[in-house]
Amino acid sequence: MLFKIMNKILFYWDLFSNYFVLYFLRHAGVTLKKNIKCYGMPLLSIKKGSKIKIGNNVVLRSISRGNAIGINHRIILTTHTSHAHIEIGDHVGISGGSICCRKRINIGDYTLVGANVVIADNDMHAVKSENRRYNNNDLDIPAREICIGKNVWIGADVFICKGVSIGDNSVIGAMSVVSKSIPSDCIAAGNPAKVIKKLPS
Ligand SMILES: CC(C)(COP(=O)(O)OP(=O)(O)OC[C@H]1O[C@@H](n2cnc3c(N)ncnc32)[C@H](O)[C@@H]1OP(=O)(O)O)[C@@H](O)C(=O)NCCC(=O)NCCS
Repeated sequence: MLFKIMNKILFYWDLFSNYFVLYFLRHAGVTLKKNIKCYGMPLLSIKKGSKIKIGNNVVLRSISRGNAIGINHRIILTTHTSHAHIEIGDHVGISGGSICCRKRINIGDYTLVGANVVIADNDMHAVKSENRRYNNNDLDIPAREICIGKNVWIGADVFICKGVSIGDNSVIGAMSVVSKSIPSDCIAAGNPAKVIKKLPS
């Protein structure tokens, strides 16, 4: 009985908070399509002029409820430059994790992004040692586009580095570091992630 009442309360809480979060995202400048569900409030840091687009039926989970692994922190969406562009396709699911964009990050339709994944198309600091602490110069912080295909499954705690593309239907094993592109229809894992299996296409 008590369980049923709690479920009902959570159901209405989710409805209400989703409405509020979508309102906040829209007012922060995020372009939203239809039927997006947000559990908890993502953290946003949006550079003026940059673009974040979120597709139909996307689920953004910033709380651990409903995620078997549990998330370490809320979803963080950051655009570092005025020309940065994050595009999240239709039916994508993201749990916790961070998307840090200086140039462009595409996530294809039906892709699943597991708990606490980091997708960063740049290194956030300059590699050259001189003035690294305060250097925010585009020329010193290289950025290369990331393109994640359709129906990709990215396991928990994966780090996806700049310049990487991941082909349609592929799977990335938990805790992998993806520093080179991965073809479609395969399973890749490890640090650095390498193809370990082909999937029947
Ligand atoms: C990627 C994954 C789905 C592959 O499963 P699988 O096809 O059953 O693969 P196997 O267990 O047969 O492993 C094949 C090989 O890859 C290795 N491997 C599998 N996952 C790995 C990983 N995450 N990192 C490094 N190596 C890995 C195995 O050790 C094995 O090596 P071997 O051939 O030398 O013995 C699974 O290993 C995985 O990472 N699951 C976690 C998914 C996850 O994060 N879920 C929650 C978020 S949604």
